[in-house]
Amino acid sequence: MKITMFDTKPYDRKHFDEVNLGYGFDIKYLESTLGVNSAVMARGSDAVCPFVNCNVGAEVIDTLADEGVRLIAMRSAGFNNVDLNRARERGIKVVRVPAYSPHAVAEHSFAMLLTLVRKMQHAYVRTREFNFSLSGLVGFDLHGKTIGIIGTGKIGRCAIDIAKGFGMKVLAYDPFPQDIDGVTYTTLDVLLSESDVISLYCPLTKDNRHLIDGESLKKIKKTAVIINTSRGALVDSEDLLEALKEKRIAGAALDVYEEEAGIFFTDQSGEGIEDDTLARLISMPNVIVTSHQGYLTEEALRAISETTLENVKEFAEGRRLRNEIL
Ligand code: NAI
Repeated sequence: MKITMFDTKPYDRKHFDEVNLGYGFDIKYLESTLGVNSAVMARGSDAVCPFVNCNVGAEVIDTLADEGVRLIAMRSAGFNNVDLNRARERGIKVVRVPAYSPHAVAEHSFAMLLTLVRKMQHAYVRTREFNFSLSGLVGFDLHGKTIGIIGTGKIGRCAIDIAKGFGMKVLAYDPFPQDIDGVTYTTLDVLLSESDVISLYCPLTKDNRHLIDGESLKKIKKTAVIINTSRGALVDSEDLLEALKEKRIAGAALDVYEEEAGIFFTDQSGEGIEDDTLARLISMPNVIVTSHQGYLTEEALRAISETTLENVKEFAEGRRLRNEIL
């Protein structure tokens, strides 16, 4: 099997090279993301392996099919960037990595939450400059506060366990509620209005784009913070920025951004960014942005490599594809 892997960084290659010792696939690593112009680079490959910000839309799939690609092996859990209908029409199978380390993402969301509510981003910079003043650094306890978990799947469940460890009350919203000890399922409106922390752990689908928009932001407490480690387009960034500017919410921590493709995972420090909304959000003292880093642990990278290459092996051997997206 020849695999062309798009949007790869040295840390991806390290893990894939190690795991591939047990498989022996012919892997071509590319730095470019998959898109309309780069799809031809898959020529001669049986499989492509795109990442979260690759364009795997209809036009790209047509090119891949014309170039002989028969498998799209996403090395992510989310697949909102894949046109599944077109893949089906063109006879291309699509697989993914449904779980690699839900802990990695859940823990990152709490790293962001604690940074935000204890103002670590300011404290860190201050002490590096020998400024030991505490003015403006008053935070709030998580203990006794209410967290609203939107999406109680694998990552949401890990986040619930962490939240319980902090002594938080847990409200949840999910179209498919489960019986989870100490968790109260409620409507989205009640969750938004009663939570001190609102954290998103649901996939982006065609129905929930801008789940958090101007209207829903009106329901949120002025003292509440929003954490998004799921997908950027779940939050209307313009509306979020307005709410922050008008002090209608207390802060936001974003590991994902709706226009992140082409910005996140790249070094733009030399030229700056053209996206004024993102630049304004980053400039706010009560906003933290990380560059879609939630998954980035050794454990998760290893698991991504293992599952992806096992997915390709199943395909190569004509076996049932356990992680096929249907
Ligand atoms: P999962 O499939 O285990 O759970 C998702 C849950 O969300 C399910 O319980 C589902 O019923 C629920 N859900 C679906 N639509 C919803 C809606 N409109 N409102 C509320 N809940 C809804 O998925 P998992 O593994 O927990 O991942 C969740 C998301 O996290 C992924 O889809 C991906 O977008 C994001 N993610 C982010 C990463 C990062 O590095 N920041 C890494 C991995 C995943």
